[in-house]
Amino acid sequence: MAQQIFITGGTGMVGRELVSLLFKNTQANIYLLVHDKGSGGDKKTILQSFFALQNKKEFMERLQIIKGDITKQNMGVESSSDYNDLLGKTTHIFHCAASTRFDLPLGEARQINVTGTKNVADFGQKCSNLKQFGFISTAYVSGKRIGIIKENELEHEAGFVNTYEQSKYEAEVFLKNLAKSVPVAIYRLSTVIGDSKTGKVSHFTAPHQAIRMMYLGLASMFPGTPNYSVDLISSDYTASTLFNLFWNNFSPNKTFHITHGSGSLTLQEIIDESFKGMAEADSSWVEKNYPKPAIVSEEAFDLFMNSAVSANNPVLKNVLSALNHFAHQLLYPKNFFQNSLLAMLPDYKKHLPGIRDYYGKVIEYCIKSKWGKIQ
Ligand SMILES: NC(=O)c1ccc[n+]([C@@H]2O[C@H](COP(=O)([O-])OP(=O)(O)OC[C@H]3O[C@@H](n4cnc5c(N)ncnc54)[C@H](OP(=O)(O)O)[C@@H]3O)[C@@H](O)[C@H]2O)c1
Repeated sequence: MAQQIFITGGTGMVGRELVSLLFKNTQANIYLLVHDKGSGGDKKTILQSFFALQNKKEFMERLQIIKGDITKQNMGVESSSDYNDLLGKTTHIFHCAASTRFDLPLGEARQINVTGTKNVADFGQKCSNLKQFGFISTAYVSGKRIGIIKENELEHEAGFVNTYEQSKYEAEVFLKNLAKSVPVAIYRLSTVIGDSKTGKVSHFTAPHQAIRMMYLGLASMFPGTPNYSVDLISSDYTASTLFNLFWNNFSPNKTFHITHGSGSLTLQEIIDESFKGMAEADSSWVEKNYPKPAIVSEEAFDLFMNSAVSANNPVLKNVLSALNHFAHQLLYPKNFFQNSLLAMLPDYKKHLPGIRDYYGKVIEYCIKSKWGKIQ
């Protein structure tokens, strides 16, 4: 029987690169659950705008678009015959859909990341031919833990920096308890920053907002310590690693840390490299002579945030809101073990694009695209 992959979140930053690899490197049919409220379109538009795939007959034939919403029963798939058809056909599920916002109220974050995951898992449990279920999580399900974080560790009581971490943690706990009935592998990513070759960013998240604040001269401080290692990974290498783990080396009941590890930039280096990259990408910016942000204690940072928020500047408020819920993670240094990953992909580190080699390109892309306003 031909392989039939059902994918959620395939139009997102990570999902789109993974789907593109699945089209190019497999013969599988792809059933894409496209958010009914989100950006979508017909097959041709989706193939071109999300996957940069030409309107090839083969791709058109292998793609099926299903409108839905993972927060709803049966993932919001309106036609019960379509849903039942999927139950019989699907051999692989890759669940990428999530809210990656750090500032949602807990109930809303849970609705998408926990209830949504339960609905996709419920679908998986009912699939009669399911062989594999892949789930993308975050390395920060470790929350406020510090020190060594092993891949096979999950439950803890250290607490969380934001509702995103907490809701992804709860989703992982749920899936772990399903391990006997669904063949699940969990892929925990650190922070995806952009493409290692072009610097392109398809979804601007908290770290990009931190760069924006520095560019606007609004970041006078960050919390943490100068030598905190900020773990950043590229979207292209993340996708090819996910593809290799899921398609070529599937291991049920295992968790993998897809992270940069040693050699990533420290917090001080992020500040220095950002200033260097901004000066190179925009010579007029240098004349503004903004001071570099200081690295300060949590108390000092919170004071700064409170006074900045009360200034009531709408741009500043948006940028700060994303940043505030991420910056506190800088107070909890950790080291993500990669034993399971390296056992499966021993050359992972050899091929890993070093963040120092492409961070400048990401900065340039942020500035040139005005943080996504110009495509
Ligand atoms: N980006 C990172 O740095 C990072 C780091 C660690 C882990 N992760 C994990 O990686 C996965 C992918 O993240 P990403 O960065 O690619 O996120 P993203 O760019 O925000 O994409 C999220 C995807 O989920 C879809 N989606 C959201 N709500 C949905 C709903 N209710 N029903 C159906 N689809 C829905 C979105 O569709 P619409 O846009 O059309 O709504 C989009 O396709 C997530 O599980 C995330 O937790 C990401």
